[in-house]
Amino acid sequence: MLVDGMRDSNGEPLDPHIMIANAVSNITCSVVFGKRYDHSDPEFQRLVLILDKMVNKIGSGGIIIFLPFSKHMFPGNYKEVSSHFFEFRTFIQRHVDEHQRNFNRENIRDIIDLFLNEMELAKNETNDRADYIHSKSLTATAMFLFLAGTETSTTTSRWALLYMMMYPEIQAKVQQEIDTVVGRMRMPQWADRLLLPYTEAVLLEIQRIRTVLPLGVPHVASEDTTLAGYDIPKGTYVVANVWALHNDPDVWAEPDQFKPERFLDEDGKLSYREELIPFSTGHRVCLGMNLAKMEVFLFFTYIMHSFTIRKLSDAKAPSMKGIAGVIFTPAPYEVIATNRK
Ligand code: HEM
Repeated sequence: MLVDGMRDSNGEPLDPHIMIANAVSNITCSVVFGKRYDHSDPEFQRLVLILDKMVNKIGSGGIIIFLPFSKHMFPGNYKEVSSHFFEFRTFIQRHVDEHQRNFNRENIRDIIDLFLNEMELAKNETNDRADYIHSKSLTATAMFLFLAGTETSTTTSRWALLYMMMYPEIQAKVQQEIDTVVGRMRMPQWADRLLLPYTEAVLLEIQRIRTVLPLGVPHVASEDTTLAGYDIPKGTYVVANVWALHNDPDVWAEPDQFKPERFLDEDGKLSYREELIPFSTGHRVCLGMNLAKMEVFLFFTYIMHSFTIRKLSDAKAPSMKGIAGVIFTPAPYEVIATNRK
């Protein structure tokens, strides 16, 4: 549907933002609700719009969440986020209620059903699982999967297209690699990534140079601890500066340069770097990491296989600076997507 939507632009300028957000949100809908929507469905369009608005008004590092007094500094943002939040919760709750009414443990359809099954099991156990696996945490979990999973993958894909538009010679190398490995007779598949090291290196470099969660997700210390000689009392908010790591000149040569080759060895094979942590690290590493990698890889390779992405004109080159928020997004931009033969 994403490629068809882009093709319908017939070479006219198009902003790929909503098309990509639709595709990503629909994947989250299939996983969480077991249901896909037609992109023109008004309920679905409203969901995509409020997710976008909510995430983009929360502020850098989620400031409204971890510095509650900031709501007085940005009262407009706070009001807007709250009203979208309640609408969003009602939407999710409706799906949860519907699943509860039709639940059949012999036919688990999606994450909501899996959770309902665990709730049933937890009730009969002697441990404390039922204290945190209950209907309120079910709604919160379903909501969080949308909040964490939609704008992140969408924004990564938007940065990827913007960089391809601004670096046509790198785009051509990606297309050449895809054409050699996949050919023109079929579309790329997830398994192809093992034979597409340059394409993978481009995606890793995009995730480094344009880290979409520059301050990760805020955490709270659950007990008194020390880290690198600093005392961290229980209850302290801890925010990881992933942006600083991804732009540290002691770690990356010329960090402000877009150089996919830094993720390739002398033989052209992919070479991961442990300092690249767009999904964070440790026990609380992104829960959707594997799904996100598939989404970003497949959207990117499908688009590169199907189109050449160009800017409207040199005079109208979009800004690469980005807009800071809980998610670091590109400013809106338009592309010309020309069909490849
Ligand atoms: C390119 C896309 C994505 C990026 C860059 C990303 C990045 C992150 C980061 C940095 C965290 C914070 C980890 C921490 O607390 O230290 C996180 C958490 C999380 N992400 Fe993602 N994410 C992406 C896509 C997704 C998707 C598609 C889903 C699910 C549908 C998802 C679900 C979650 C969840 C549930 C958490 C919270 C995990 C926890 O607190 O234990 N993410 N993500």
